[in-house]
Amino acid sequence: MEIFTTRPSPRLVGGPGALSQLADCVKEIGGSHVLIVTDLGIVSAGHVERATSRLSEAGIEFTVYDATHESPGESDIKAAAEFARGVEVDCIVGLGGGSSMDTAKGCNFLLTNGGAMSDYKGYALARSPMLPFIAVPTTAGTGSECQSYAVISRDGSHEKMACGDPKALAKFAILDPELTESMPQPVAILTALDALAHALETAVCTRRNAFSSAFSREAFLRIASSIEAVLTDSATLEDRGEMLLGAAFSGLAIENSMLGAAHASANPLTARFGLVHGKAVAIMLPHVMRVNDVDPEARDTYDHYGELLTRRGYADLPLIDWVEALLGIADLGSLDEAGVKAAAIPELAGDATKQWTGQFNPRAMTEEGFVLLYKQALESLTPSTT
Ligand SMILES: [Fe+2]
Repeated sequence: MEIFTTRPSPRLVGGPGALSQLADCVKEIGGSHVLIVTDLGIVSAGHVERATSRLSEAGIEFTVYDATHESPGESDIKAAAEFARGVEVDCIVGLGGGSSMDTAKGCNFLLTNGGAMSDYKGYALARSPMLPFIAVPTTAGTGSECQSYAVISRDGSHEKMACGDPKALAKFAILDPELTESMPQPVAILTALDALAHALETAVCTRRNAFSSAFSREAFLRIASSIEAVLTDSATLEDRGEMLLGAAFSGLAIENSMLGAAHASANPLTARFGLVHGKAVAIMLPHVMRVNDVDPEARDTYDHYGELLTRRGYADLPLIDWVEALLGIADLGSLDEAGVKAAAIPELAGDATKQWTGQFNPRAMTEEGFVLLYKQALESLTPSTT
């Protein structure tokens, strides 16, 4: 038997209308004044009102912080914590996409332990207890609701710092597919592809184990059943629920293993060229899978997943071809169209080798390997045009 240690998971509360259980969750963890960390888009969608009306009915006080930004940086977290210090809260709710949840987690670090986010880069560096946290995702993709890490950009360099602590993990994650109906279609597409990448990278990474592999496989099946409907904007509430659960399972797989070279090569594209995370990951994913496909164990997993696709009637294609077909449907455009220049490849490759998660790719990635990978990604046409 392999050697591994599992990480805890939040209690999951799921199903259409699950948000109605928010007040009960807050009461169960002893909260009386909740800080809701969210953004203006979620306010406009009416989700904040839906959440706060339930808290009011239950006699629970709340304060809303709606100034969350996409890909939050150190200064964003500092601002959120300064706001939170001005109100006496005893519980934090992250309501929104990955950025709201990361901001909520980051705020919790600074509010309870002081200092700056860079002090917590790594794992388990917070000494004092943290406030109980409830994650309520309104997108289906990041899986942040099931992870003890806040991903915060370093001001200036845009380096992504993974700041993790078991105390930062949500006590509850409320998975209500009705909340994901308000996602703009471009967000739905990119978060779905990110969730797929999470399932596929965790499934083959060198940190995988029996526990994480079970989550990866279940995540893959849920995502495979619903992703085409999400990409073509024809998702039913059932599809949205499958995608939301798939994304959460992917998050649990990441929490209990690692990612791989698609994320390692995507992060520099985001930092240097501003590509949205899901887009950068999705574009790099099939190229990384072709590299990994020569690893016998990775290939076994890919073959197995491909057979599952056929057996369940989701697609009749080998796994990597199916991923490329999905990218064709998503019509993401090429790296070239996104403004990525071949001259930047050496710098991108240098940055990619420094990404922690790349070290767990099934095939070891050198700087030369990343150069080749970026070249392939830049030279390939978008799947929709081939
Ligand atoms: Fe991701």
